[in-house]
Amino acid sequence: MVKRGATLEDGFGRVHDSLRIGVTDRCNIRCFYCMPESGAEYAERREILSFEEIERFARIAAELGVTKLRVTGGEPLVRRELPLLIERLAAIPGVTDLALTTNGVLLESLARPLYEAGLRRLNVHLDTLDRGRFRQIARCDDLAKVLAGLEAAQKAGFDVIKLNAVALKNLTEPDIVPLARFGRERGFEVRYIEFMPLDGQALWDRGKVLLADEIIAVLSREIAPLVPVAGRDRRAPATEYAFADGIGKVGLIASISRPFCGDCNRLRLTADGKLRYCLFAIEEDDVKTVMRSGAGDERIAALIRSNVARKWVGHEIGNARFVAPPRAMYSIGG
Ligand code: 5AD
Ligand code: SF4
Repeated sequence: MVKRGATLEDGFGRVHDSLRIGVTDRCNIRCFYCMPESGAEYAERREILSFEEIERFARIAAELGVTKLRVTGGEPLVRRELPLLIERLAAIPGVTDLALTTNGVLLESLARPLYEAGLRRLNVHLDTLDRGRFRQIARCDDLAKVLAGLEAAQKAGFDVIKLNAVALKNLTEPDIVPLARFGRERGFEVRYIEFMPLDGQALWDRGKVLLADEIIAVLSREIAPLVPVAGRDRRAPATEYAFADGIGKVGLIASISRPFCGDCNRLRLTADGKLRYCLFAIEEDDVKTVMRSGAGDERIAALIRSNVARKWVGHEIGNARFVAPPRAMYSIGG
């Protein structure tokens, strides 16, 4: 057991209390802004951390002050027996917030087991309610499954379900309003995410980003004025707005137009056991090799501390110095 009561503070005074855990680099769909249509490179099974290894790492991180865990992928629900991992993570002392991000395709049958395992917060990726555009973006025809998954999740009792919509210029403009209406009717908070250079294929350019201000303007004009929600967690990436008519909220993740690196509190563990202090990090620490060499908890704690200590100020997208990370989103873990 490592010394408790510590905090993970980086060189810029940012305290890290949030860990995102990729449990697989595989995905059952193929969103173009994340994955190549074919030929995705997956890690071999033995390179992927076991549940025991993930749990151990998360426990050590919790001893260093991490209180929030988010399970991601690839698509986390394709990992076999995922509810067992959820149960283990939910039981770690000090973890007060456990969430999961999924594309929803397998949610219909997994919502209840996940809830019963102790999961309470869910983010479901949904860019469009239009079947044609869904096919165009995700390169598959699974919209109906995602919608059934959302229904199952509400029935299972999840209280907070957020929808993640990547905002793409010249493509998802027609989805802004229908998604928000859908959220207002069903009680989901839609979060629009500015498209980031994480596709692994150099598809991104600034002109393809549908910007937060434009989305706010459209929603305010077409539905009801948006008012910033006061007292929100300053360090959360989404800026929350409530509709002035009192029905529902939306979030804007303005990664490009308003980078939130200055408030970042997050670390990432990839499915193949690498620790990254930023989505866009170039360097990473090889936690898996250290763990598998029989290292004790103190050594792993030291690795986490030194990773945080080396964290850079921010991603600098839009700056000439920006270099896209060598991994695509599916292998980093959103
Ligand atoms: N830009 C912005 N968001 C992305 N996601 C995946 N790829 C990108 C990208 N290139 C989002 C998806 C998913 C979350 C984990 O990350 O919406 O829900
Ligand atoms: Fe799969 Fe998520 Fe990437 Fe889409 S964004 S291909 S759902 S991992």
